[in-house]
Amino acid sequence: MALLLMLEVQAYERPLGQQKYPNLWRGRIVINFLKERFDFGNIWRLIRLVKIMGRRRWLTVLFLVFLMGVSEGRELKIKHHDYSDVYNSTLAKILVEYASAVYMTDLTELFMWTCSRCNDMTKGFEVVELIVDIQNCLQAFVGVAHDLNAIIIAFRGTQEHSIQNWIEDLFWKQLDLNYPEMPDAMVHHGFYSAYHNTSLRPAVLNAIDRIKDLYGDIHVMVTGHSMGGAMASFCALDLTVNHGIQNIQLMTFGQPRIGNTAFASYFGKHVPHTIRVTNAHDMVPHLPPYYSYFPSKTYHHFAREVWLHNIGLGSLVYMVEQICDSSGEDPTCSRSVMGNSISDHTMYYGIELEADTWGSCRIVMNKRMAEYHMDPAGNILLSREPTVPSNLLKRTRTDDRISSV
Ligand SMILES: *[C@@H]1O[C@H](CO)[C@@H](O)[C@H](O)[C@H]1NC(C)=O
Ligand SMILES: *[C@@H]1O[C@H](CO)[C@@H](O)[C@H](O)[C@H]1NC(C)=O
Repeated sequence: MALLLMLEVQAYERPLGQQKYPNLWRGRIVINFLKERFDFGNIWRLIRLVKIMGRRRWLTVLFLVFLMGVSEGRELKIKHHDYSDVYNSTLAKILVEYASAVYMTDLTELFMWTCSRCNDMTKGFEVVELIVDIQNCLQAFVGVAHDLNAIIIAFRGTQEHSIQNWIEDLFWKQLDLNYPEMPDAMVHHGFYSAYHNTSLRPAVLNAIDRIKDLYGDIHVMVTGHSMGGAMASFCALDLTVNHGIQNIQLMTFGQPRIGNTAFASYFGKHVPHTIRVTNAHDMVPHLPPYYSYFPSKTYHHFAREVWLHNIGLGSLVYMVEQICDSSGEDPTCSRSVMGNSISDHTMYYGIELEADTWGSCRIVMNKRMAEYHMDPAGNILLSREPTVPSNLLKRTRTDDRISSV
């Protein structure tokens, strides 16, 4: 069956050998094409065209490439699939900034949203709860993004001495826990517990309740990178299944596999608005390994992957955001390449996704802050009450029912 893919080819010029892409997005073409008829000749022609047009200013050009029709003169039916409801590239570039900020070690700056990564497209974010689980070296925050009208929950990835060791350990993770109330669904106990059996979960739930009391119906978006993506996934599923929160948007970056095929299929039913972004040759999404010949024993990703990879020549490189199929294990996406890069793991959309300082679970903060609490186990919580949005304030003055609450 012909698989129709949408490729967003984002044009930018990359100085050779440079890993950061400050002037990333130059122009964009969107190509709908038949995957089986992928033809580099045509792609290069398009690239040259965009190079000519996209040099100076932003250009958005929609190309429909009827490669099959062109090459074989057969009549072609193109099913024009609109993927904008599935994957929103702008939202991905916003959420990756939250997933990057949660790595910061200075808790005061993070809580006040003045850190060096608390900027750009996340300006104005209001942290309601910042949680540091000291024993397990985990960190997460919950807050309100007023511009998105959404609660954002972000989980930090691992902060061990060596990310290399952490990745090597991923090879050996067992499917060793039955996911509660989902027959046959198996997950990795360690990933599950990092969210379910630490101080993170109660603090996250409490913060969501406080925000929802004030805002009522507000979107919920969960994000995280690497191990943080695994925790974000368990969180999104928990909020849906156990707390009745609908329409959660989950977007993770470079997350490992967390469960088996049965789990992946439950996951897709409960959290349909899920995007799992993978980058080029990032190792982590390839782990723990997938064995197609052990279908009942293997780890299996849930859908839907969006695979970022570059195509281009010399100094002219384009980032493609390839929207993959609904199987979770699309063989034409990240699985079509070797997962052999750590540097591809720590940079998504040109945003750095790792701790600002490596080492043990280092914490920098001003303990005299009024919002500072420490629980009996020594975990740190920084909380504030969400502010009342101005439109609700007006209602409290005129609506007796609300003001009496
Ligand atoms: C994508 O997300 C951005 C930010 O939330 C939003 O402004 C925009 O309308 C969305 N686009 C689509 C097509 O939904
Ligand atoms: C939860 O964590 C505690 C200690 O951190 C441990 O003793 C307990 O077995 C864990 N429970 C589960 C279900 O993982």
